[in-house]
Amino acid sequence: MSAKPTLWITRRLSDATLARATRDYQVIINHADGTFSADEIIAMSANVDAILPCHSELFNADVAAKLDARVKIISNHSVGVDHCDLPALKARDITVTNTPDVLSDATAEIAMLLLLGAARRAVEGDRLMRTGVWDFWSPSFMVGKQVSGARLGIVGMGRVGQVMARRARGFDMDVHYYNRNRVAPELEQGAIYHNTVESLMGVSDFLSLHCPATPQTTGIMDKDMLARLPDGAVLVNTARGALIDETALLDTITSGKLSAAGLDCFQAEPGGNPAFAAHENIFMLPHIGSATTQTRDAMGFRALDNLDAFFAGNTPKDQL
Ligand code: DGY
Repeated sequence: MSAKPTLWITRRLSDATLARATRDYQVIINHADGTFSADEIIAMSANVDAILPCHSELFNADVAAKLDARVKIISNHSVGVDHCDLPALKARDITVTNTPDVLSDATAEIAMLLLLGAARRAVEGDRLMRTGVWDFWSPSFMVGKQVSGARLGIVGMGRVGQVMARRARGFDMDVHYYNRNRVAPELEQGAIYHNTVESLMGVSDFLSLHCPATPQTTGIMDKDMLARLPDGAVLVNTARGALIDETALLDTITSGKLSAAGLDCFQAEPGGNPAFAAHENIFMLPHIGSATTQTRDAMGFRALDNLDAFFAGNTPKDQL
């Protein structure tokens, strides 16, 4: 190995991140910012000691099995690691890390934006103004769903879920949550714990998803689960598209069971679900939960901190 390990940065990260990486590593940077096929990832792995990817690069079991033995660490620029087959990478003795904490504020901001925008018909209102067809006002015009005083159900009371709970309290929402384990009272801050998702659904005028996509949570928001929500509920997803059965979501939007949805994540990314576009009560964003300058720098630096620790012979803080 050369004095400086060779690091492949698979996407165009923030300028500050790239400057630090270039100072400390032999870097191969994807300035063009396109995505890579499995074959391209496998081919590149022969040239590098470490990979710093985003959630857009897939390290499934097949890729993990074929990565060159030279690769010692995958230091993800994401908190979610559903694009990595962790057991398969562990079997190859490849260390995997992620970037928790640093994106919680930005992601909760987008969740609140989606919640408010879905509740108060932002897509429809924006369209009326933008197309110049707003020619009518009455007390019954564009009436939405009030957030203040409503009940918010949070699925996944981890770091992002806890920030979301704090933001929601600022709107006087009553916070309920499901988590695999009940969190400590000082983190709970009065939020009401439900030991099943099913129980949470029934009290969630608004439901916000903040859990990882795992085999256990994939498709958890299916027809039966969505049917448990109160009539007119609003669903918000800033976690992963895989959590929601999108056909079931469309059915519940069409039937009026859900009054609105706010989505930053989709089963197919990039692209999303074209069928959603016909519904102005689905407020959509293109997976930008963590997309602020401050957070992108923090994610890049956290990924580099993990690499630095690894190459210094220490256990990275965010080793999975
Ligand atoms: C994450 O960190 O998991 C975000 O979805 C961006 O990749």
